[in-house]
Amino acid sequence: MKNDIKKDLDLFNTLIKDFLDEEIKVPVSKAMSPEDMHNTIDLSLEYDPLSEEKFKKSLRKILLKSPKSSSGLFFNQLYGGRHSKAVLGDLLVAFINNSMATYKIAGVHVGIEQAIIKKVGDIIGYNNSFGGTFPTGGSMSNFMSLIMARDKVDKTIKDEGVAKKLIAYTSENTHYSVYKNASFAGIGKKNVRIIQANSKGQMSVKALKKQIKKDLDSGYMPFYLNATAGTTVLCAFDHVEDIAKICHKHNIWLHLDGAFGGVVIFSNKYKKLIKGIENTDSFCFNAHKTLGAPLSTSILVVKEKKHLYNSFNNEASYLYQTHNDDYNPGQTSFECGRRNNALKFWTMWKSIGTKGLEKIVDHEFDLAKYAFDYVNSHKDYTLYSFEQSLSICFNYKDYDPVDLCSLLYKNSVLMVGYGKFREQDFIRLVTINAQNTIKEIESFFRTLEDFCEKNNNKIKRKN
Ligand SMILES: Cc1ncc(COP(=O)(O)O)c(C=O)c1O
Repeated sequence: MKNDIKKDLDLFNTLIKDFLDEEIKVPVSKAMSPEDMHNTIDLSLEYDPLSEEKFKKSLRKILLKSPKSSSGLFFNQLYGGRHSKAVLGDLLVAFINNSMATYKIAGVHVGIEQAIIKKVGDIIGYNNSFGGTFPTGGSMSNFMSLIMARDKVDKTIKDEGVAKKLIAYTSENTHYSVYKNASFAGIGKKNVRIIQANSKGQMSVKALKKQIKKDLDSGYMPFYLNATAGTTVLCAFDHVEDIAKICHKHNIWLHLDGAFGGVVIFSNKYKKLIKGIENTDSFCFNAHKTLGAPLSTSILVVKEKKHLYNSFNNEASYLYQTHNDDYNPGQTSFECGRRNNALKFWTMWKSIGTKGLEKIVDHEFDLAKYAFDYVNSHKDYTLYSFEQSLSICFNYKDYDPVDLCSLLYKNSVLMVGYGKFREQDFIRLVTINAQNTIKEIESFFRTLEDFCEKNNNKIKRKN
């Protein structure tokens, strides 16, 4: 059976060279409908093998037709760009192929994961009993925090199921995973109280207090609050310090979802946005969003490691055969076989230092400031964002943002999405690609304006 990794690595290098060249020449891949995809690319799987030449051609086609999430014109989701040292680390992972369940099978990679968790816990100011893990993403980090909170408030739930009326809290601008997680955890979506936000998209502390009182008066059991550092649409930062005081008073687990904006922990200039973070019970951030590590690189830290263990450990004699639980991370993670998502972040962090991470964060805020000022100072634009955010929400003239974003995509001009706050739709430009410079942001606006001018009659207008 042919299985020549060195030869395949040569092929990899050839393909990637073509891909990187193409990324510069054609930063937005030609939009392809699902029908076109099926009609133009042969994705079928056959009984007979493909010749080497046809295989190569097929891979090349797939690569060049893929949406280009690292190009300078991709602003569509909360990730973009690629940090080369993180990519290097991730490529190595494919070769080493450890499962992060036990020390016996992951060895030094357990130490690497622990080194990152230790550093993050120290940076945010947790005490010495903290722990952490690398879940599959922000949604899973939020889920794990909810499970720990649930098991802390009632130790019988793990075995008996949920019997009491447990109430969770989050802001109207929370990530949708909070609702899904409530359903998975047996809490029920209807038992997630949606707390109104202020005009800047931050959870209203006054409304929170009022709601907790109402629930207590009704005999319910408040147990969990999911606050956000960088809400998905507006990139608003909830007031952690004030919220923590309320949670502490009522014995509510406070999780800070920093999937988008939590990386401000690395910036001396912007860490004020999460003031009070040391008073949370758990915190997560995604290095795959704002730091340019490949998907997925999500870190969850928990103030008291025992809660991770309590909720996620299980007896498995066929797996845990050597070393103690401190070195067998399967006892504190959701999965059994778990991908090594730590090495890529370690290679990145080790090579550029914390100073390098800080530079990335500050640079992205500089790009956001440029975009903010641009929108704010041009009369054809309406701004919906606030300062100190990585998300610039705006409308251009009276164009309908939904139609405009969709036409920009269909015409392979720009990859950007739209968002909504209250009843207002707008274009959402996120500055989370650290390889971008002011030039790419200028080019974003110029491209958008040129497109609107040329297609003036084809774009719908807002009602
Ligand atoms: C605030 C917030 N939390 C959680 C998530 C989910 O993260 P993931 O996509 O890694 O599951 C997102 C994703 O955009 C987010 O913006």
